Amino acid sequence: MTRPPLPLAQINALSPEAFAEHFAGVLEHSPHYAEWVGAQRPFASVEDLAAAFAAAASADRPEAQLALIRAHPDLAGKAALAGEVTAESASEQASAGLGRLSSEEYAEFHRINAAYHARFNFPYVVCVRENTKETIFEGARRRLTHTPDEERRAALHEIGRIARLRVLDLVQATE
Ligand code: GUN
Repeated sequence: MTRPPLPLAQINALSPEAFAEHFAGVLEHSPHYAEWVGAQRPFASVEDLAAAFAAAASADRPEAQLALIRAHPDLAGKAALAGEVTAESASEQASAGLGRLSSEEYAEFHRINAAYHARFNFPYVVCVRENTKETIFEGARRRLTHTPDEERRAALHEIGRIARLRVLDLVQATE
C-alpha cells in the first residue's frame, strides 16, 4: 500500500485508466470493479466513493460475488505465511496481530479455515482492521451457523468494510 493518497478533486478528474489503476486493489484481485466505479464519477465525498465499491460488489451476480469472496486468502493461511498475498491483505492481517500468533492461535485459525471451506466452499472473510483476534474467532463460530446465502451476504458486507478502509487510505483526508 505504497500508493500515495490523492485529494478527491484530483481523483474526480483522473483519466479512467488512472482512476482504475489507483483503486485497482480496493477489491481483492478484482481490478475490474474500479473501472465500473470510475465511470460513476464525480463523487461528492470519500464515503460516497467507498460506498460505490460496496454497492458494485453487492449488485453483482451471485457467481461473481462468490469469485470475489474466493479471491481472498485465508487468514493466517499458507499464502499469508509465505508472503504470497497482496500488500493490502498482508498489512491488514498484520494490523490485527495475525503475523505473530502462538501455536494454539495458528491451530485455531487452521481449524476455522478448514471448517469454513468445508461448509461454504469459500474462505472466512472479515474486515480484520475492525477486529481483534478474539472477535475474529468469535465471528467465525457465529458465522459457521449461517446458511450459505446468509454467509455470502455476511462476507460481502465485510468486503464492503475492507474496501472502505482501503479507499480511505487512497484519498487524502480534508479538514
Ligand atoms: N480481511 C481483510 N483482508 C482479508 C484477507 O485478505 N483475507 C481474508 N480472508 N479476510 C480479510
